Amino acid sequence: MKTLDADYLVIGTGLAGLMSALNLSKQGHVIIVSKKDSSESNTNYAQGGIACPIDPDDTLESHVADTLGVGRGLCNESAVRTILSGGPEQIRELERLGISFARRPAKENEYDLGQEGGHSRRRVLHAGDITGHEVIKVLLQAVADDPRITLMENCMAVDLVTTGWLKISGESRCIGAYLLDRAKQAIFAVRASCTVLATGGAGKVYLYTSNPDTATGDGIAMAWRAGLPVKNMEFVQFHPTCLYHPDAKSFLISEAVRGEGAVLVNAAGEDFMRMYDERGALAPRDVVARAIDHEIKKRGDACVYLDITHKSREFLEQRFPNIYATCRTYGIDMATDLIPVVPAAHYCCGGVETDVDGVTALDGVYAVGEVACTGLHGANRLASNSLLEALVCAYNCATHIAGHGQAAKPTDIEIPPWKDSDVVPSDEAVVVEHNWNEVRTCMWDYVGIVRTNKRLERAARRVATLQDEIEQYYLDYDVTTDVLELRNIAAVAGLIIRSAEQRKESRGLHYTLDYPEPSAGIPVETSIVDKPGGTVRPPDSF
Ligand code: SIN
Repeated sequence: MKTLDADYLVIGTGLAGLMSALNLSKQGHVIIVSKKDSSESNTNYAQGGIACPIDPDDTLESHVADTLGVGRGLCNESAVRTILSGGPEQIRELERLGISFARRPAKENEYDLGQEGGHSRRRVLHAGDITGHEVIKVLLQAVADDPRITLMENCMAVDLVTTGWLKISGESRCIGAYLLDRAKQAIFAVRASCTVLATGGAGKVYLYTSNPDTATGDGIAMAWRAGLPVKNMEFVQFHPTCLYHPDAKSFLISEAVRGEGAVLVNAAGEDFMRMYDERGALAPRDVVARAIDHEIKKRGDACVYLDITHKSREFLEQRFPNIYATCRTYGIDMATDLIPVVPAAHYCCGGVETDVDGVTALDGVYAVGEVACTGLHGANRLASNSLLEALVCAYNCATHIAGHGQAAKPTDIEIPPWKDSDVVPSDEAVVVEHNWNEVRTCMWDYVGIVRTNKRLERAARRVATLQDEIEQYYLDYDVTTDVLELRNIAAVAGLIIRSAEQRKESRGLHYTLDYPEPSAGIPVETSIVDKPGGTVRPPDSF
């Protein structure tokens, strides 16, 4: 087995991963891996933009208040303040790297700020409706130009390697990871003094999601298998408005469309949101997604509709070029037609427990971006706060690593060769396909926008059985990306269900018919920490 050495290993090439790599390369050699094409990440599909209190009329206090309000008592206020106050400096860093945020047509010195649900004012920096795509394009170029960064595509992390797992005495620490080279179908290892998990979210745990295929919760699952605490996993954010069309896979209609005045109507043409919340279509996402779910189920309809026909075609083409063009390909003209939409899994507010520097409970492993739970989002994420969190925490993480001398801490511990002597090529790929669908359907039906104790119990039983089957499959057959991703979505599904079962109340994104109100008293976070287990296949010598 090949082992590569680096000062830092960064897993994931979304905003969190690329900015971690660019910040860390100032201190040493970075290997950054992407499990598929490096441009394929949740960030790449981010339409809305980056929320930041940058406008002279805006204040940090106002952004903090909106974030805390939407987070329903579960945000860590100190984390919120640190992350939001670090925003303006990191936005300037993005601009220095070459990203241009939209400016107001007649006033070039002012940003054209977008409005989204839960924000008390316009605050979202954007690059049209392809903000994430523009950001990734520029950062990938910066990474390519940096001689201290090695970017490896089509390499999927399998598991973290820890000294605890290697039974080396003393405090356990991470010394790198096993990875699958998809082109060669071979496992290799990267040995590094620090590993940064920047693997993004886990939308693929659900049947319907706005996320790309890569969002399979890999970092959360790996961290959990290594014995790290995983927090607040019941808070899965469902984006209210994904395009409902048989051929449109995961296409989001940005909340910024509602920010420009779009209303939500049902099949009878009723603007129903005011019946649920006085803020109408711009209420926070948990409220809007639940209202749509209720409306669809009550009326027996397949979807609801966004109506932005009060805006001119010229405005829509200029402000939402990508959404406008994509809708056109499905025969929908936003300027004259209603847009059919449904909610879909969008963002994982929970994740690996970290502080605002990405520090986890295990020495040598950091987590940044959607994979992490810093306390910024609490029970519900304020729209467009996530890219800001990724930016600020990537910077903080590199600063923390520099301050702790990790760069100068090489490890000479050998990573044992991967054991594959007694596995065979899979002869039953149908099992993988079947279990993928089963996990995702089960989660959609039983652990979705509205939950009950009974549904959670059912889901827990099914997912536990599937996890056992998948683990056996993983041990018996050659490792493939499909199997690894399946193993990860099943692990994350199990964590979501267990966290949801712990929460005996409704709060933010977790709504259950058995306890429809928030409980009185100080809100508490859910946390799961299991003994390291089900981890990498033990090498022969173990
Ligand atoms: C959107 O554009 O609606 C998504 C933005 C976000 O999830 O923060």
